[in-house]
Amino acid sequence: MKSEIIAIYPGSFDPLTNGHLDIIHRGARLFDRIVVAVLVNLEKAPLFTVPERVEILRDAFRERTNVEVDTFDGLLVDYARRRHASVIVRGLRAVSDFEFEMQMALMNRRLNGDVETVFMMPAEPYTYVSSRLVKEVVALGGSVHGLVPDSVEARLREKKLARETLRA
Ligand SMILES: Nc1ncnc2c1ncn2[C@@H]1O[C@H](COP(=O)(O)OP(=O)(O)OP(=O)(O)O)[C@@H](O)[C@H]1O
Ligand SMILES: [Mg+2]
Repeated sequence: MKSEIIAIYPGSFDPLTNGHLDIIHRGARLFDRIVVAVLVNLEKAPLFTVPERVEILRDAFRERTNVEVDTFDGLLVDYARRRHASVIVRGLRAVSDFEFEMQMALMNRRLNGDVETVFMMPAEPYTYVSSRLVKEVVALGGSVHGLVPDSVEARLREKKLARETLRA
């Protein structure tokens, strides 16, 4: 019997954007299961807590039975091994992503030759979307409608209001 192919899609997802969504949907069509793995990185100062990011993701994929949401820390290839995953999915937006992604992919291959990194391109309208840019635009009062799920747009607005209230 052919065993199922499990893919890991790691990232910060602070917050989830429509670019991430696009890649996850593509991955869910290609692999038997895709595990969206939120990196627990204690060094960064995130806008959304890890539980908030997990909740947003679980909400967005409630109806996709082959999309799972999890968290991880430490080496990605060790996490992949624990999850019996043979694929790491990464999104490529532009040439600017390429150098860093290739370094990571080759380092991960060196650490564990059994895990293959697969790159996917999003639909063109999302090629310039990043979590960082989304947060920046919202902080400056711009609209990110259509670039993030509606639930994320609402949460971003709440965060902004909360910060403004704190400052006032
Ligand atoms: N719009 C997008 N289209 C395709 N892939 C994307 C997009 N945004 C992020 N990715 C990919 O998703 C993975 C996880 O990325 P990450 O969580 O760092 O998101 P990000 O938007 O780059 O966030 P940040 O701006 O904080 O770096 C990476 O492989 C990244 O290249
Ligand atoms: Mg990034």
